[in-house]
Amino acid sequence: MSDKATTVHIQTYGCQMNLADSRTVETLLRNAGFHIADGIEKADVILVNTCAVRDSAEQRAFGKLNSLSRWKSEGRIIGILGCIPQELKEDLRSRMPFLDLIVGPDDYRELPRLIDERLGLASDEPAYVATRLSRSELYDEILPHVTGDVSAFVTITRGCDKFCTYCVVPFVRGRERSRPLSSITAEVEALVARGTREVMLLGQNVDAYRWESKSFADCLSAVAEVKGLERVRFLTSHPQDIHVSLFEVMAANPKICPYLHLPVQSGSNRILGLMNRGYTRERYIDIIEEARALVSGIALSTDIIVGFPSETEREFEETLELAEQIRFDSAFMFKYSVRPNTKAAKMPDDVPEPEKIRRLEKLIAQQNGISRQRNKAQIGRVDEVLIEGFSPKNNKWLFGRTPDFRPVVFSPNGEGPGQVIKLRLTELRGFTFVGEHIIK
Ligand code: 5AD
Ligand code: SF4
Repeated sequence: MSDKATTVHIQTYGCQMNLADSRTVETLLRNAGFHIADGIEKADVILVNTCAVRDSAEQRAFGKLNSLSRWKSEGRIIGILGCIPQELKEDLRSRMPFLDLIVGPDDYRELPRLIDERLGLASDEPAYVATRLSRSELYDEILPHVTGDVSAFVTITRGCDKFCTYCVVPFVRGRERSRPLSSITAEVEALVARGTREVMLLGQNVDAYRWESKSFADCLSAVAEVKGLERVRFLTSHPQDIHVSLFEVMAANPKICPYLHLPVQSGSNRILGLMNRGYTRERYIDIIEEARALVSGIALSTDIIVGFPSETEREFEETLELAEQIRFDSAFMFKYSVRPNTKAAKMPDDVPEPEKIRRLEKLIAQQNGISRQRNKAQIGRVDEVLIEGFSPKNNKWLFGRTPDFRPVVFSPNGEGPGQVIKLRLTELRGFTFVGEHIIK
């Protein structure tokens, strides 16, 4: 351990799991005596937590790291964390020779030691590589540092065993494992004691949660019982593992927000089979019908991939038709991107790039229309908004969300972050609502 406190700055790319992991890394480093800085200028160590889910995410991370390499001349050390190190390991040394540390998602406990050792070395030494995958690492006892955030992430599972044929996650985040329920509720209690009002339970596939005899529905109800917590959300669900007991628990417990992110990926049964998703379009529709019947006002979102190997125009249209039939409140839509090691990487990537772009644009245009219509239908509604902070666009206004995750900005009347207030949704600006106080 160095005598002067070393300062570390972390930048994060990718999904909510990465955001939560960066918080874990911060806590690990603070516990070892490091300081965490918001800006690069004061940092001795710059860490970039990266995503490998699509080639575009990887290119963004490489671009960022290359632009950071100029800081090296000032004697700093630079490290890459997350999914790209796990995928590329030692190969990163030649791709980005300025790197000092290459650390994958299960090896973050090594960081304090690696940074200390590295700080004493000449800057042209080859990077240290720590990319051991673990069957058990959960960073379970690493409780987040005081944040005061109104809404906080809590990881409940790590890894994924589903091996969808396009997906790199099982290779870079390893086998699926669940945290003990008691430590999840202990973390939520600690967060609530520091001011958190909402938690988002995170896992690649939360429905696979299993701890002793407890299922994900049990986990959700246990978390919802934590005193002082206003709201519980969760991300991401999987149609293969989701169970009707989840909807029953959601319906019975007003603290569990009526919002479900259930990736469908494709509307074609042949493509779903090639993707190894383990359900059909008909089964997916049944689940959505069950959710809508049991959880009143539930908002639905999804992920969709277009241009998977061998996807025909007709099969793409089946995806369009499914999205039109279900009418998701929102969707994250992607072009298929070949990922190394995956099964799909052995299939010919035969949908030409301009065709992928055309399909993606068509799907996005259709979905934006549906999202807008569904949002418009909410105008006039009165709902409870949990205030998360100030509006990013206008710092005199506050920003919050309805239980079904719709963003709302409004001019405050003495309220502040952490409070729940009733507002009328009066207007839409893009995909954000303007809220007004109710005059009695
Ligand atoms: N190409 C395109 N999209 C992908 N996703 C995962 N892997 C790929 C890939 N190789 C999308 C899926 C997943 C979301 C997180 O990213 O839709 O649900
Ligand atoms: Fe990837 Fe499929 Fe696991 Fe999601 S469920 S992380 S898409 S392998």
